[in-house]
Amino acid sequence: MLPVVDNFNLPRRLGDGLVLRWGRPGDVEAIAEFNSRIHSSSPTEPDLYVANWTRELMSGNHPTTQAHDFLVVVDENRNGKIASTLNLISQTWSYGGIPFRVGRPEIVGTDPDYRRRGLVRTEFEVIHALSAFRGEMVQVITGIPHYYRQYGYGMSLDLSGARRLDFHAVPKLENGAQESFRLRPAKFEDIPVLSELYAIHCASSLVSRIRDNNEWRYELSANNEKSVSYHQFYIVETLDGEVAGYTEAIPGTPDPNSPFTIHELAARPGYSLRAVSQFLARAFKEIAEENNKHRKEPMVGLSFNFGESHPVYTALGNIFSRTIPPYAFYVRVPDLPGFLMHIRPVLEKRLIGSVMENHTGALRLNFYSYQIALNFEHGRLKEIAPFKATSYQDGDALFPGTTFLDLLFGRRTLEELRYIFPDCFASNSGAQVLLDILFPHKPSHVAVLN
Ligand SMILES: CC(C)(COP(=O)(O)OP(=O)(O)OC[C@H]1O[C@@H](n2cnc3c(N)ncnc32)[C@H](O)[C@@H]1OP(=O)(O)O)[C@@H](O)C(=O)NCCC(=O)NCCS
Repeated sequence: MLPVVDNFNLPRRLGDGLVLRWGRPGDVEAIAEFNSRIHSSSPTEPDLYVANWTRELMSGNHPTTQAHDFLVVVDENRNGKIASTLNLISQTWSYGGIPFRVGRPEIVGTDPDYRRRGLVRTEFEVIHALSAFRGEMVQVITGIPHYYRQYGYGMSLDLSGARRLDFHAVPKLENGAQESFRLRPAKFEDIPVLSELYAIHCASSLVSRIRDNNEWRYELSANNEKSVSYHQFYIVETLDGEVAGYTEAIPGTPDPNSPFTIHELAARPGYSLRAVSQFLARAFKEIAEENNKHRKEPMVGLSFNFGESHPVYTALGNIFSRTIPPYAFYVRVPDLPGFLMHIRPVLEKRLIGSVMENHTGALRLNFYSYQIALNFEHGRLKEIAPFKATSYQDGDALFPGTTFLDLLFGRRTLEELRYIFPDCFASNSGAQVLLDILFPHKPSHVAVLN
């Protein structure tokens, strides 16, 4: 993480005794208490998960985030009471193998006494400036419906999505057969093989996070059951101790409402993903049944949270009881031409072998409030430049609002967008064919850094 060399005009007086400033290590408990209250669904039950997550983010141990990555608005007329806060969790993601920096604003909240005064709006201006300063090309948020659209975000990248497997449908071992694998918690020494396996897990996702060594170490140690950051990584090994696969799961904590969720899973080349997944389903069922002894509401199944599609769904076959469609990350791409140029190796690769291989010509995109042309020469994206629309609907394709982001992040095809938004369309068949090649439907399942 870059040091904050610019304070973005903070601290800043907002009037009525309110002061916007960066967080400090001494704020930890006050912000943790604030977040546990503001993000709880019940006034009598503070959200301990968010409180502990706040502590971890501010502790100085997090790989990218510290106390000064939080913004707080305090009320000097009420003893420095916290009125509003949010933070930025920086990370690196990949688009089809091209790394890009991401800023993730999180734990956004304002005390009820201070709502509708533009505090979050002001905090977002500052956090976007910090994110830009760090060279982050994209901002993402996991958030309440609709709210963040007003800050330039589209709900345009798959988030979550799962298949449910009831315990009664977990594949049984054949009579008399023995398991050929066993499960053990992953350790720091496993990081090289975990990285190899994580790359296999991510291969089915257009967008994924790049985990460096620090992030691996941090996440392998994230063992506070009552935190949003809680993870358990396991190695699947043969009875001879050969690594055959890995998985990351939250094994159903004693908390009454927590399900048994599996987020990552891959088998090493040479091993059957079906065999590894079936073994894991049995092993996890056993752990869940043990954990059920301490729960008021027993778990009844496993949730494979791999988004819309993943090889594990194929490997396990039609044994799932339910499909949960993905929600969406909010995504903001403040410099769209810059981002498109950044990922151009992916776009150029998609042209190779397509029906428009070696394409030359301009693809003029009209976003109604501004226009850009992607200039291709023999299959290479040479430049992206603004173009001046000669009429309101001039351009090869038109995209209202943030609809183009759905195409860019593989969530919807042009045809699907056109079906929902009548003002979103290609105005000629060349543009339609080219856009389908450049931006195919490609689901994502991102293991975000918490
Ligand atoms: C959502 C929340 C963060 C908004 O904080 P805030 O400081 O009141 O937000 P702002 O005043 O900056 O709001 C900016 C704009 O958002 C919209 N907005 C905010 N709250 C709204 C509401 N309850 N209903 C409709 N629009 C709302 C409005 O357009 C508002 O501008 P306006 O008041 O000029 O019309 C706050 O209500 C909150 O903490 N809620 C509980 C926790 C939560 O859900 N956090 C988000 C987790 S992802």
